[in-house]
Parts: sequence; structure tokens; C-alpha cells
Amino acid sequence: MIKDLTAFYSKAALNMKRSEIRELLKVTRRPDIISFAGGFPDPQTFPVKDLEDISCQLLREKGAIALQYGPTEGEAPLREEIAKWMSGEKASIKPENILITAGSQQGLDIVSRVFLDPNDFVIMELPTYIGGLQAFNAYRAKMIGVPQDDEGMRMDLLEKVLAKLAKRNKKPKFIYVVPDFQNPSGVTMSLQRRKKLLQMAYQYGFPILEDSPYRDLRYAGKNVPAIYSLDTQNQVIVLGTFSKLLCPGLRIAWIMAPAEWMDRMVVAKQGMDLCSPTYTQLLVAEYLRRGLLSRQIEKIRKLYSRKLEVMLNALRQHMPKGVKWSKPKGGLFLWIELPKKMSANILFPQAIRNKVAYVVGSAFHCNGKGQNTMRINFSYASEQQIVEGIQRLAKMLKENM
Ligand SMILES: Cc1ncc(COP(=O)(O)O)c(C=O)c1O
Repeated sequence: MIKDLTAFYSKAALNMKRSEIRELLKVTRRPDIISFAGGFPDPQTFPVKDLEDISCQLLREKGAIALQYGPTEGEAPLREEIAKWMSGEKASIKPENILITAGSQQGLDIVSRVFLDPNDFVIMELPTYIGGLQAFNAYRAKMIGVPQDDEGMRMDLLEKVLAKLAKRNKKPKFIYVVPDFQNPSGVTMSLQRRKKLLQMAYQYGFPILEDSPYRDLRYAGKNVPAIYSLDTQNQVIVLGTFSKLLCPGLRIAWIMAPAEWMDRMVVAKQGMDLCSPTYTQLLVAEYLRRGLLSRQIEKIRKLYSRKLEVMLNALRQHMPKGVKWSKPKGGLFLWIELPKKMSANILFPQAIRNKVAYVVGSAFHCNGKGQNTMRINFSYASEQQIVEGIQRLAKMLKENM
């Protein structure tokens, strides 16, 4: 009999880390806890009736296709609709540039599988999306975090990192950015920084991975052009998803990439799941074809901008001096900075005892720092819960100051 079954794990499997958020969500599902932890949309926003109508028609009229295997690249009507949607920002996008994935999280895995060998460098914002860290880590990449400010990743610091790597004859396999209402910080990268990032990508020769699930969730201010729309050299790969606009349960997302990179990505996906579910792809394709998405986005923008306002008001009213928070113009998250000596990690069990949950900021730092920070979500809880939850959090912080 084998004594230690785990001795058979590959180095890659040993390197994999559980997402702290996914672990946390198990606790935060308790009905007595007000959860600011997940990035969950408000279920009120799910277009249940529209999807029910389309679903019935789909099964009645196209059941034989909808319940069958489909092409790895994705269903043609859906790729066409997404290409059309994205062409709003850059006219040259074609269905051939779109690969349908099971959530953007699979997109992160596919891109990592295609680009990363162990010890390859990936550069990212500090902090950044935890699921990105998880994917790059699984392929044993070396991660370099570049601090950001109110305008996104600091380009002066990025330049230093790139020059340092170049001295050793190295460069990143790609730079990963979440430029719009970033998860976790809520920061949006300015136009000037986007241009500078592209300029460095051309100068040093590396791809940019633009992951933008929150782009359409703007509640104030003017749109900043997507990085891919500014790209003239075919060096940007985009991850898009319907998780935050429609609903995450359908798991419909996409990679948009230059045709030259598509082939390997398709092969990588083939080895993972053969194809994304045909049924949910055709459901979303018809939803888009009927032109229902714009109305849906308007609806959620209204709801979330109201919730954001409620949360900002509650923070202003209840938080003790010394606690700072971001004031995003979109997305689903606020970023909180506690006084340097405090640790959101140490306080977490106390928060759960007080029946309020957040995500510790250190989980989003590839260097393990950020202990005095936390991410809180404003889309999931009701307005009443938002006020009550912020009061609970503020009370706990005051007691620990
Ligand atoms: C920046 C970012 N990328 C990717 C994802 C994954 O989204 P999904 O797999 O639901 O499409 C998320 C989810 O919160 C995210 O915030």
C-alpha cells in the first residue's frame, strides 16, 4: 500500500494554491453574515424571464444542436455577436479572433498554459486579481508586482523593472493588467498610462493581457479607451466575460487574440474541456442578437451606482479616523487601507464573529504584502445590509485602534 499518496503530485500541483476568497466564501454563505467578500452580482439583476423565454425556444427549435458537442472555438453565432460587440471599440475585430471560454478564469489558465514555462516572468499590478495570481502560479511563473496609484500601474516603476530584466537579457512573457475599475482596488488606468504601457510593449517586445470584466460598469465620468483599441501592433490579448453583466452561472466568457496566437489557445482548450457548453453559448448568442444587453447594463449600472453611494456614505459616517478608502467610478469593489500597524488578516476572525466579511488585501499581493488592506464588495448586499455591515466593521476597527 502507498503510504503517502500526495508524494505523486507534480511540481506544478504542489505549487498550486487555494484561492483565499473561494475558501472564505464557504463561511460567508452563512445567512447571518453580511458578506462584502465575494465579487457576486446582485441576483436581482439576473434576466431570468428573458433567459427563460429564449431557453424554451432554443430547446424547442434547436434542441439537437444545443445539447450536442460543439466546436472548441465556440458556437459561430456567439463569436459573431461578441466580435460585433467588441468592434464598437475597434472595427477590425472578427469572429476568428474570439475563443469562447468557461469564464475568464479559464481564459487565464489557457493563456498561462500557452505562454508560460516554469520561471518565466509575468508582470502585474500590485495588488491584482487573485485568480490571475492563482493561474500564473500554477504554471510556476515568477511574478513581479508593480505598485499602482490613482492612475493605475506606475509606468516609471515598470520601466525600471523592464530595464533591470533587460540587463539580464530577460523580458516578461506578458504583462497582466485589469485596467478598468480594477479588482481589487477599483482603480482605472489613465489614458496616458495605457499609451505608455503600449509604447513599452512595443519597445521591449512583449504581449499585454488586458482583463476587463468591469469595463461596462461605469457609474460616473467618461470612458477611457480600451488598451486593445489603441494597439497598432497586434500585441494585446483581451479577456472578456458576461459574468458581471448577465450572470456568472452561465460561465460564458471569451479570449480575444490576434489570429496567430489563436491556434495554440484552441488546442489548449481542447485538452481541458473539448468545448464550452453549447446550450449556454446559444442562449447568450440569442440574448445578444435580440439586443437585450444594453438595457440590462443600464439596469445594473443604476442599481450598483446607488449601492456604491450608500456604501461611501456609510463609510464617511462611521469609519474611525486613520482609515482610508478608494472612491471608484465603477466596478464592484472598494479598497480599504487601515493604519499601517493594523492587520486585516489578524482582524478577520473577529469580523466573522461580528458577522461581517471582507477579503484580506494581502491575498491580492504577489509579494504577500498589504496586510493593512482589505477589499469590500458593494454589489451583493442589500442597501440596508451595506449600512449595517459598515457599522459592524467600523465598530470592530474602533475597538482595535
Ligand atoms: C479581474 C477578473 N478577471 C477574471 C475574473 C473571472 O471571471 P469569470 O471566470 O466569472 O468570467 C474575475 C472575477 O471576479 C475578475 O475580477
